[in-house]
Amino acid sequence: MTIKTKRRADYMPPAFTISDVKMDVVLHPTAARITSYLTVKRLGNHHEKLILDGEKLVLNSVKIDGKITQDYEQTDSSLSIPNVPNSFQLEVITTIDPENNKALEGLYLSSGVYCTQCEAEGFRRITYFLDRPDVLATYEVTLHGNKNKYPTLLANGNPIARGEGDNGSHWVTWQDPHPKPCYLFAMVAGDFDVLTDEYTTTSGRKVALELYVDKGKKARGPFALESLKRAMKWDEDTYGLEYDLDIYMIVAVDFFNMGAMENKGLNIFNSKFVLADQNSATDEDFFNVESVIAHEYFHNWTGNRVTCRDWFQLSLKEGLTVFRDQQFSADMTSPLSNRIKHVRVMREHQFAEDASAMSHPIRPDEVMEMNNFYTVTVYDKGAEVIRMLHTLLGKKKFRKGMDEYFRRHDGQAVTCDDFVAAMQSVTELDLSHFALWYSQSGTPLITVSHQYDETAKRMSVTLSQHTPKTADQSVKRPLFMPVAFDCIDSKGNHYQDDEQRVKNNMLLLNEPSVTLQFSDVTSALIPVVLGNFSAPAKVKNPLPSEDLLAIFRFARDAFNRWDALQQLYDWCIEQYALGKPEAVTASIWDGLKEVVEREAQNHELLGECLVIPSFETLCQSRSLVDVEQLRQARRAFCQDFAQELATPLLTVYKNIHTGDYEYTLEAVNARRCRNVVLNHLARLPQGQELVCKQFNSSDNMTDTMGALKAAQHGDKEQFEKLLASFEQQWREEPLVLDKWFALHATQERDDILSHITLLREHPQFSIGNPNRVRALIGSFAFYNTAGFHAIDGSGYKFVTDYLLMLDKTNPQVAARIVTPLTQWQNYAPVYQEKMKVQLGRLLNEKGLSRDLFEKVSKSLA
Ligand code: ARG
Ligand code: ZN
Repeated sequence: MTIKTKRRADYMPPAFTISDVKMDVVLHPTAARITSYLTVKRLGNHHEKLILDGEKLVLNSVKIDGKITQDYEQTDSSLSIPNVPNSFQLEVITTIDPENNKALEGLYLSSGVYCTQCEAEGFRRITYFLDRPDVLATYEVTLHGNKNKYPTLLANGNPIARGEGDNGSHWVTWQDPHPKPCYLFAMVAGDFDVLTDEYTTTSGRKVALELYVDKGKKARGPFALESLKRAMKWDEDTYGLEYDLDIYMIVAVDFFNMGAMENKGLNIFNSKFVLADQNSATDEDFFNVESVIAHEYFHNWTGNRVTCRDWFQLSLKEGLTVFRDQQFSADMTSPLSNRIKHVRVMREHQFAEDASAMSHPIRPDEVMEMNNFYTVTVYDKGAEVIRMLHTLLGKKKFRKGMDEYFRRHDGQAVTCDDFVAAMQSVTELDLSHFALWYSQSGTPLITVSHQYDETAKRMSVTLSQHTPKTADQSVKRPLFMPVAFDCIDSKGNHYQDDEQRVKNNMLLLNEPSVTLQFSDVTSALIPVVLGNFSAPAKVKNPLPSEDLLAIFRFARDAFNRWDALQQLYDWCIEQYALGKPEAVTASIWDGLKEVVEREAQNHELLGECLVIPSFETLCQSRSLVDVEQLRQARRAFCQDFAQELATPLLTVYKNIHTGDYEYTLEAVNARRCRNVVLNHLARLPQGQELVCKQFNSSDNMTDTMGALKAAQHGDKEQFEKLLASFEQQWREEPLVLDKWFALHATQERDDILSHITLLREHPQFSIGNPNRVRALIGSFAFYNTAGFHAIDGSGYKFVTDYLLMLDKTNPQVAARIVTPLTQWQNYAPVYQEKMKVQLGRLLNEKGLSRDLFEKVSKSLA
């Protein structure tokens, strides 16, 4: 198979542009008719033909300035028209098949709802167009549909006319005055319940808010609507940014390939990120709803008003918008737990991506299928890069830079360089070295070494950086990074280096290495590095357990405190893996007991500190992982952890009273801490009763799921009973049942594959619904360490068999789930070989999608 690679370096401005779009859409399940009237203009002096993108379209007719023409050429993916005037009206009529669109890109019909997904290149599945983000047009769209079946007809912007047609049909015309790239186009038709509200912006503009949900689900909508208002207010307060249309609509749909989409004035959401109430949603679900609602809202400025010139610039809008939603969430909840959440994503997923064959910079250089680049690197590492800018410039200057960015580029399609240039204009700091973060892939490793000279009473600490080569780039240069730094002694005193290279606890590392000197110190000091995860780097700072416990006790930075314990757990698990569990001495266990006792009231910190690093995180500080050995070591350590700390943990559990359910910061932290503790206690005989009691008396999904997840570590029969009772209660609610599917899929059991096969026959499971597929198959591939990495290769084969099937209908979701297979480099050769066999099967498949082909071929290259 040959698939063309597109390169960032090959960018060319468009030869034509389209300034106005009028569309007339007659909905029909299998033959929807799209008439588009485009105002086209030649750009520059040339005689090239007009080449429009189009996929899976049936072409009915082409007219130029009102006259039918046959003078055009069609391929699978384009319509070329030679000899066009410099400026003209183009009318194209096409027919599409929404019901059989199972890829969920373009216009599709699922469970009675028509909706669209156009980012990145889905608009070309609706009509022929210049489907690229640097072509900005205004849109006027008229939708026709059956009035009974589709009482609601929506598109971007404001409704300007409506009326009735023949045979029980009606129509609505929508007008979006803001020029936009076609990836922000959206339309929806269905029969919904709607929640309405109103928001008044700082400057007094009234905005109607409308939230469309499935019939009967209205009671689960208010939290999303409240979140939206908080986000609107926050963006005004923090960045001075107001909403710019009279109406803001959000539609929740059950069939969606991703989280949500920021279409101008008409966001479309996976219902998972809209619907929430105490019975059906966990605290984490509530958190995610608020953060995704905010993310899409923030895109209105960072993404829509200022958009991307080309798709290589995706991080321009995504990294920045993720950073903004992270800031928002931290303000709405608390900075520490948020920061830890982001760091977990970086360590579990982004570091793994960097270490794999899919490694790419936050601004990729080469792409086969754009949908493959909505990655943790572009999004989350992209946000870390913006965060570093925020750290380097400080809050005030950063805001100034943002103001300048909008002043320069409102209404334009721009590049990451344009963003950096706007930031550069407000700071003395030279950002040219910093900009390397946009083009260099890979995870830098900061190695810390130190020496204490007892006679001279001098301490020296050296930090050196090295970025290992990645699959896409063999030469790496030192990066410019802010490294939060502190130096303490075992009593908790803080020290400043002689030359004061560390300013305000921040060291600017821009060379391969830097050495700090500390004079007149009477004992060896402990370097505390990368506070608040100030740069997306790995750190190697091997310290003895007593130093890690001292950091936990005395460091100023709460993230460093948490991280010290993570490092301690990592070290302990390594001792278990090496067959020396006795290296984890009584004094270490005592130190940990003290942690629990001392922090018993600090539910937020304690809750996070009692989470043992996941298997995936452990993999990132190791190479050629012997899966079975590491998994067993982690398990054994968890078991001992529960036993050794049983008494203080039990005390914590019993002393946390959460009362009636409330979604408040304090209550969330309390429940989180209690459930983390229960998860440990469930490994002990005395934990069984607690689990059962909590499950049976819970008045909210958080504690129900807390009990259910904990139960898997205890008595198998009891666990099965609780699972069955959960299913009984929620069998009519697929969104809730996804939690149940996922829990099944991550079970350690010998018959896991036949078990999942059985669940695929569950009345609520469907290969056509991405949420179900991710819950059952995705959870298995990503998180069932024992099953997926079964030494006989059966887990890899199982996932591959499924992907071969799924790829035929939904390549985007298939390409997501293949990710763990593509990360074979991290595992011992026996695993690698078996993973590669399955990747080979995929590669040999005839008609493999571009999505899978890109990831699989790169990972076998
Ligand atoms: N722009 C959307 C968001 O981040 C996500 C779109 C994802 N598109 C895709 N083809 N995977 O809010
Ligand atoms: Zn986004």
